[in-house]
Amino acid sequence: MAGVIRQLGESDAKKLRTIWIEALKAEPEMYEAFCASIEKRPLSHFKKRLTKGAVFGAFRKGKLVGFSALRPVLSPGARHKAEMWGLYLREPLRGKGLAMELIDAIEGFAREKFDVINVRVVDKNRRTRRFLDRVGYKLYGIERRAIRSGGRFFDVELRAKRLL
Ligand SMILES: CC(C)(COP(=O)(O)OP(=O)(O)OC[C@H]1O[C@@H](n2cnc3c(N)ncnc32)[C@H](O)[C@@H]1OP(=O)(O)O)[C@@H](O)C(=O)NCCC(=O)NCCS
Repeated sequence: MAGVIRQLGESDAKKLRTIWIEALKAEPEMYEAFCASIEKRPLSHFKKRLTKGAVFGAFRKGKLVGFSALRPVLSPGARHKAEMWGLYLREPLRGKGLAMELIDAIEGFAREKFDVINVRVVDKNRRTRRFLDRVGYKLYGIERRAIRSGGRFFDVELRAKRLL
């Protein structure tokens, strides 16, 4: 598919903020962060996400249309692991192979630094679960009632892929 994938830098912080807010609004119950008042966060919050971890953007016709991101796990005994967050593609671009390209980019980056990538996915998010199955993120547990929102509870799948 005609898309360009590249790592976002500090100067892309505004673009990241815009697309992350778009993702949370478009798919409010698919992200654990949906309860957070993300719009109030300063630009420095997004810059930190870009410099302390890695974010890869998918561009079409020069526009950021999706992203996937990684943050390192900071505990001393867990520095071989990273956590994927924020996987998102604009709806019309789904099902065209661009998500696979984002995953390839994230994993290419991660292989130099980490042995394992963990990801959490709300269990009712069937499309993402199926995508993660295809790209090798294996289920290793379920956190029951991981999210509470508006009096409702959501379970979250814990998945991981070994890079070694
Ligand atoms: C997650 C995401 C980036 C994946 O990209 P994508 O282009 O949709 O992925 P693909 O189409 O390659 O793979 C999705 C799979 O789910 C299947 N699928 C499509 N709709 C589905 C549905 N309603 N229920 C179950 N499976 C579904 C597809 O057929 C495909 O499976 P296949 O490869 O066996 O045919 C994208 O769906 C997205 O942005 N989702 C909304 C945000 C989100 O939920 N992010 C994840 C947070 S953890």
